[in-house]
Amino acid sequence: MDRIRITGGNELRGTIPISGAKNAALPLMIASLLTSDTLTLENVPHLADVEQLLRILGNHGVDVAVNGRRERQDESYSRTINFTCRTIVDTTAPYELVSKMRASFWVIGPLLAREGQARVSLPGGCAIGTRPVDFLLDGLQALGAEIEIDGGYVNVRAPKGGLIGGRYACPKVSVGTTHVLMMAATLANGTTVIENAASEPEVVDLANCLTAMGAKISGAGTRTITIDGVTSLSGARHRVLPDRIETGTYAMAIAMAGGDVTLQGTDEALLGGALDTLRQAGASITATESGLRIVRNGNGIQAVDITTEPFPGFPTDLQAQFMALMTRASGVSSITETIFENRFMHVQELARLGAKISLSGQTARVEGVAKLKGAPVMATDLRASVSLVIAGLAAEGETMVNRIYHLDRGFERLEEKLTRCGAIVERVSG
Ligand code: UD1
Repeated sequence: MDRIRITGGNELRGTIPISGAKNAALPLMIASLLTSDTLTLENVPHLADVEQLLRILGNHGVDVAVNGRRERQDESYSRTINFTCRTIVDTTAPYELVSKMRASFWVIGPLLAREGQARVSLPGGCAIGTRPVDFLLDGLQALGAEIEIDGGYVNVRAPKGGLIGGRYACPKVSVGTTHVLMMAATLANGTTVIENAASEPEVVDLANCLTAMGAKISGAGTRTITIDGVTSLSGARHRVLPDRIETGTYAMAIAMAGGDVTLQGTDEALLGGALDTLRQAGASITATESGLRIVRNGNGIQAVDITTEPFPGFPTDLQAQFMALMTRASGVSSITETIFENRFMHVQELARLGAKISLSGQTARVEGVAKLKGAPVMATDLRASVSLVIAGLAAEGETMVNRIYHLDRGFERLEEKLTRCGAIVERVSG
């Protein structure tokens, strides 16, 4: 199994290209199930999660052409991919495929909307809490679907004549629920209103793509989204937006290691208030023609308290990385997780590097230390893994990050991007 070896202590200098957003690419790819025409997506990142979803979509009958060629693998950075689903050949998404990635469950929305039925295995994915799908199913029920859970599978069926527009108020802001209901409602009869909808940039990106395909959607980016159903959708060409989590992650890596790096092709607006928090912690961040320039100012890292919240609040997907940064801050910071109940697995791994962190319920108290020291650590989930890389960049000596397959799920060419900026990071096979 591959590992990543980091020799800490180098500053980062240069440019890092930001890839297309994983969390936008996945629902956009799934949207290709809604039409028999070709959906062309540009800037699709080359990631294990994307490859896994290509396999799942292939199983439903989606023909995939990468950069115009019929192949699955491509070694270049983000790619243009054509997705064509003339007919849905199978409405079952089996356990073997769905259990590896939670977002693959979202195929339930388009399959139900287009074929009137679906059988989808209950999902897997990162072990960061129970992550149920009750909101998604209640929402589909509000559109008239009948639902039955049987042997680890969800069987859904639309009424004769198709889904019927309805109103669903989500009990808690949920990105996946918003994606699924938005997709399902595009082909329903009548109007659907999603209340307490997620307003993440990836939801807006999906709404923009669906609109280009002929859907009638208003309010994406606010807490209330209205969808007027249409009888069919057409193909479209859409560019996946830049990855805000990758942007924030590298910004924190630079704040941690020091240096001066331009993050190419990204935009501060995608991060809500998260970069302001990083400014308070001691980074200077400025917009340039090509992206964002991040410089660690000379005063060291300051402790800042954060609480994770739905967009535009501080994203849960940057919580682990920010905690890594706070391990070296002057003072004590308090980090509260409100989105997932079990997203502190990185705490004990950061402690192996010398971090001082205590947990009380959903809040971590991080007391900054003068230095971290390299050690072997274990990656536990996608974002936790990269927090260990960030800590390793500033630790004295060698940090070996084990089980890095999580990193490959969500960070395109991480070691290459860091190495180009002067970090000593290498992948060790076996
Ligand atoms: C998406 C992101 C993930 C991010 C998360 C929160 C993708 C592929 N993944 O995950 O990186 O961390 O948003 O920003 O885009 N919930 C329920 N019942 C449900 C659905 C959700 O209780 O039916 C709960 C979850 O357990 C969690 C909260 O709602 O506590 C938010 O989850 P949600 O926004 O749905 O996360 P995902 O869409 O799975």
